[in-house]
Amino acid sequence: MRKVTKAVFPVAGMGSRFLPATKASPKEMMPIVDKPLIQYAVEEAVAAGIRDMVFITGRNKRAIEDHFDKAYEVESELAARGKSELLELVRNIIPKSVNCIYIRQPEPLGLGHAVLCAQPAVNDEVFAVILADDLIDGDPPALRQMTEVFERHQSPVLAVQQIPREQTRQYGVVKTEPVAGNIERVMGIVEKPKPEAAPSTLAVVGRYILTPRIFHHLAQLKPGAGSEIQLTDAIEALLAEDRVLAHRFNGTRYDCGSKLGYLQATVAYGRKHPEIGDAFERFLKTL
Ligand code: G1P
Repeated sequence: MRKVTKAVFPVAGMGSRFLPATKASPKEMMPIVDKPLIQYAVEEAVAAGIRDMVFITGRNKRAIEDHFDKAYEVESELAARGKSELLELVRNIIPKSVNCIYIRQPEPLGLGHAVLCAQPAVNDEVFAVILADDLIDGDPPALRQMTEVFERHQSPVLAVQQIPREQTRQYGVVKTEPVAGNIERVMGIVEKPKPEAAPSTLAVVGRYILTPRIFHHLAQLKPGAGSEIQLTDAIEALLAEDRVLAHRFNGTRYDCGSKLGYLQATVAYGRKHPEIGDAFERFLKTL
């Protein structure tokens, strides 16, 4: 039985919707309360039993590498001041068993191209793709729910959720047939269709479990929507030869690639934060 042991994080995007905040640092380093988005994403992979993290980076990659690396100066400073709790926090950002691999995407040619750049690190294994700007508050974490589906069915799995029809232009949209419970079989998938052309209102959000066969299709693709190499188009090609499942995950997804979604996540996570949650809630009531 195959298991998911690797996760790919495409983090080379420009983050243009958050300029000027993202002028000199990656959008994945923007915090929700006190943790950067990329850390939530890596923690979700760890909770799904994944140990090898493959980051596809571009310009401004340094901060992400540094975040998951040892920080001698910060650590010795905290040690010297006797701040042992903060020291532990900084030291244990990821478990020691986790392996981080960084691959540079030389040009921003699209999500599909970014995933193809991961091939030398993924090889012949089943892998997850996590888009850090889709923050999902799930219990169990969304990727964990998906690896369970994969282990049971041994087919690629896409996370999906219902969206309003007027938003289909922002997503990969699937056509499905019911399988069981919250699992459906993908019969078709199209990237960013117009509302009137969309096959449904079931959209893919940033979690995928894929088989290495996807690399074969990615390598043959011509640029699609937005003149980019689209992961959606490779999944469409995969449908002809393999069963692909759509999983309606349990949990709340925040589109932290948009300002509104980012603020909604900040408020939701702020309210339940153990240190400041109560005080923040009181503040919100005064507004
Ligand atoms: C990407 C994918 C799209 C998917 C979306 C989820 O689009 O291409 O199929 O629905 O992520 O967030 P992007 O948001 O990068 O434009």
